[in-house]
Parts: sequence; C-alpha cells; structure tokens
Amino acid sequence: MATSTTPASGNQFLKHAGIEHPVICGAMYPCSNPELVAAASEAGGIGIVQPISLVYVHGHEFRAGLKYIRTLTKKPIGLNLLVEKSAKRYEDRLKVWLDIAIEEGVTFFVTALGNPSWVIEKVRPVGGIVYHDVTNLKWAERAVGYGVDGLVCVNNRAGGHLGPETPEKLLNDLKKFGLPLVCAGGVGSHKEFHEMMALGYQGVQLGTRFIASKECTAHEDYKNAILKATAADIVATDKISGVPVSIIKTPYIEGVGIHASPVAKWLLRHPNFKHYMRMFYTLRSIWQLKQSNQRGSSYKDYWQAGKSVDTIESVMTVKEIVQELTGS
Ligand SMILES: Cc1cc2nc3c(=O)[nH]c(=O)nc-3n(C[C@H](O)[C@H](O)[C@H](O)COP(=O)(O)O)c2cc1C
Repeated sequence: MATSTTPASGNQFLKHAGIEHPVICGAMYPCSNPELVAAASEAGGIGIVQPISLVYVHGHEFRAGLKYIRTLTKKPIGLNLLVEKSAKRYEDRLKVWLDIAIEEGVTFFVTALGNPSWVIEKVRPVGGIVYHDVTNLKWAERAVGYGVDGLVCVNNRAGGHLGPETPEKLLNDLKKFGLPLVCAGGVGSHKEFHEMMALGYQGVQLGTRFIASKECTAHEDYKNAILKATAADIVATDKISGVPVSIIKTPYIEGVGIHASPVAKWLLRHPNFKHYMRMFYTLRSIWQLKQSNQRGSSYKDYWQAGKSVDTIESVMTVKEIVQELTGS
C-alpha cells in the first residue's frame, strides 16, 4: 500500500510544516550541520536547526547561519529549542535565538525537555507552530495543557534521549488528544516508515539515518559505526546527561560503563543541586560529543544512535534517503 504524503490527504502535520513529505530531520547536537538541515528541507521534508550545534560546533553566528541555510534552500526549515529550566544566561540566549528565527521567517518549532509556553506565546501571533517532544502520557498531558500544536512521540528505539514506551503504546496513549503525532525513533528505512504511517502517525522524525548521509559532516568513523551496528549494539547510558541517552556500544563504552555514579545520581535528584549538576553534565557532554563527532575513534567514542541502525546499510544523499523512505 502506498503511503499518501500529499497535503491534500488531510495530513495536518504536512500543513503545519508546509512541506511535501512527512519526514523531519530531527535536531541533533552535534550532528546538525547547516548543509544537512538544508538538504532535508530541499528534499521535501523539513530540517530542524539545533542552535547550540549551529553556533558552537559548526561555528556560525546564529543569524548568519540561518541566512547561510537560506542560500541552500528556500523551503521551510524548523528550529529546536531545549526549553528546560536552566542557567538564566542560557534562557536569555534561547529567547534571542527565537526572536532572530522569527525575523528570518522560521515558523516551525520543535521544543523539548521543559515548558514551551513562552515559545508558544511568542510564535503564535506570527503564525508559528510548536511541536513538543514527549516520551509518555504524563509529559504529553502537560504539553497539551500548554497548548502545543502537535507532539513528537519519542519512543524506546530513538537515538539521543530515548523514552520508555514502544511506538504503538505511545500512539494508543496519545491519540485521544486529537493532535498530529510524529513518531521519533527506530525509523531507518521505508519498511518502518510505512509501518509507522500505517499505525496512524502523521510523520516521522529521524536522527540516526541522517547522520549516515553524504551531507552530514560527522566523522567517517561515526558513520561507519552506524552502518556496522545492529540494534543489539545500542545501549542506554545516563553518564552523558544524567538521563538515558542511546549510544553505540564500543570498546571504549564497554570500558567506562553506562551508569552514572551513585553520588552523581543523588546530586541530579537533589532539589538544591540538580540544576547545577545538569548544567555540569550538559557542558561536559557538549564537549565530549563534539570531540567524538569531529575526531572519530581517536577520541572517546560517545556515538549517539538509535535502534534504527538495524536497517541503515549505506551512506546515501539526503534526497535518496527521503525518496527511499517515502517511496517517492
Ligand atoms: C546524535 C543525536 C543528537 C540529538 N540531539 C538532539 C537535540 O539536540 N535536540 C532534540 O530535540 N533531539 C535530539 N536528538 C533526537 C532526534 O532529533 C530524533 O528525535 C531521534 O534521533 C529519532 O530517533 P532515531 O535516531 O532512531 O531516528 C538527537 C538524536 C541523535 C541521534
């Protein structure tokens, strides 16, 4: 059965994003280089800018980075905002980035990790759309209460921060809200794309599949590790950010283990310390992931990837990936 992906099919997500194919190239720290974002949009899906990645990994001043992407595609792009309560300086920075993105014509936003109300308040008057990453019913209820336009349902096969639920359970639990649901996790080929669309998702958000693309500037060792890995090689570690993150089990990871120390776990839960601990983890992981992404096996290999590695067999162009996924 062919999956209809035209806006005429009544797919609300396609209308919200203003795109042709229901495929998001998810935001990825540190892998979202501007060429990858642009290529996903140019292929008829939508590429999501990860601002920390754009500025601190790929070295673009934020507005200049958006303008550069605009030279590569005129089609819609999105912006990812990790809205978790954090240091004031970071929150102020997010607000500036959001204002600039609106000025540069971005209208699709994918928020994660906290309360997206302030983003909704800011973008709604200018026709912006906010989808929020959720991992279970509890977080979805909160997001719906804040007034989001759609939910990105992060399942237990996802790369990056993964959730506890299967794609089927998430869909069953969240369809009652009547919002467009996008499946994030475990989609690496047409087979899973088609299965998720047939289940009732209106779109898919992929990360791992797009790392193994020609346009992604991640290190060759990282791409090869994705091609070589199977789902059994993907493990969840809380050592990077204090919450479970999917990574490829390499000899380095086997050596250092996948669990944060009991003291770190206690500090991460303690009301007085948790924000500092998270900030420490975030800053440390920003550095570690950047090094792994750019220096390959010569550094500690913290390679984030999801169970979609199972069906990823070659490095392709983003256009080929979108065509293969959607059968277009
Ligand atoms: C290397 C990597 C980095 C990621 N960084 C972010 C991020 O900064 N913000 C975010 O909202 N999601 C992030 N994600 C999640 C992706 O946007 C997407 O939801 C996820 O990769 C989907 O699962 P898949 O990898 O199985 O396709 C990341 C995923 C990966 C693999």
